[in-house]
Amino acid sequence: MKVIESAKKMQSYSESLRRQGKKIAFVPTMGYFHDGHLCLMKEAKKMADCVVVSIYVNPTQFGPQEDLSQYPRDFDRDLRMAESVNADVIFYPSNKEMYPAGYQTYVDVEKVTQNLCGISRPGHFRGVTTVCNKLFNIVKPHIAVFGKKDFQQFISIKRMVDDLNMDLQIIGLPTVRETDGLAMSSRNKYLQKNERPSALTLSKSLKLAQKLYSGGEKKSAVIISKVEKLIKRAPYTKIDYIKICSTKTLKDVNEVNGQSVIAMAVKVGTTRLIDNHVFGDKLNV
Ligand code: PAJ
Repeated sequence: MKVIESAKKMQSYSESLRRQGKKIAFVPTMGYFHDGHLCLMKEAKKMADCVVVSIYVNPTQFGPQEDLSQYPRDFDRDLRMAESVNADVIFYPSNKEMYPAGYQTYVDVEKVTQNLCGISRPGHFRGVTTVCNKLFNIVKPHIAVFGKKDFQQFISIKRMVDDLNMDLQIIGLPTVRETDGLAMSSRNKYLQKNERPSALTLSKSLKLAQKLYSGGEKKSAVIISKVEKLIKRAPYTKIDYIKICSTKTLKDVNEVNGQSVIAMAVKVGTTRLIDNHVFGDKLNV
């Protein structure tokens, strides 16, 4: 497996692959891999000749009060894990490489970034779309693969790619969960043992929401209030938001249908967890 740290070298490597007619699939990540990341890499491998994985903890998507300096990192472990699923290239840039002195250009997707995490994490999606735009220009992929666990991120990236006529295909893959239902996340490592049952209320509440919907309940307010009750009952939980939105606009909807997503952010102890479910989709909980 190749490790490339320079943007210029990555660009010329991708260019040479393209000249040979090779298809490039790209998996952008912030590292500290779990099975969710590996699943994206495995799927990417099925779709292309070369899988490029970036590992970069992007400072512009973290707020001043957020966990940038504490974000878990283990490059050697990540390398071994990426190798185990036959990823071909790791792009591993430094901050200086990505944001050299004088840097001043940002990409802002206006509407779909406003609601949900956009409220509690101002500037977050601006950082995400900016770094993804840069990474796409560096890696020059034909396909980029994202997890739908970060649903708003996935929708925002798709919007940016459509709006700016970027010449690549965005693929979204389902959330990978632990056997107990917890959505995999690099931040799960922060959870204390006694907080785990509380963390499970997120996926349990998604299951409840789907059950209510399948049973004929279509009012968002009713579903949200039952979900809220389930989560509030558990200790250590502090709800940031629970909302039901259109999967297209990410605006709140009063009536639920097959194009609605229930999305939530909940702090369990000090760990902020997110989860979501599109009504009618398969839910492995
Ligand atoms: P990170 O949190 O490392 O996630 C990298 C990719 O893995 C994202 O597409 C994310 O949605 C996906 N992912 C995370 N947990 C998953 C799970 N349980 N199941 C399926 N996919 C999962 O998301 C980011 O990094 C960054 O914001 C990034 C896009 C790299 C930009 O900096």
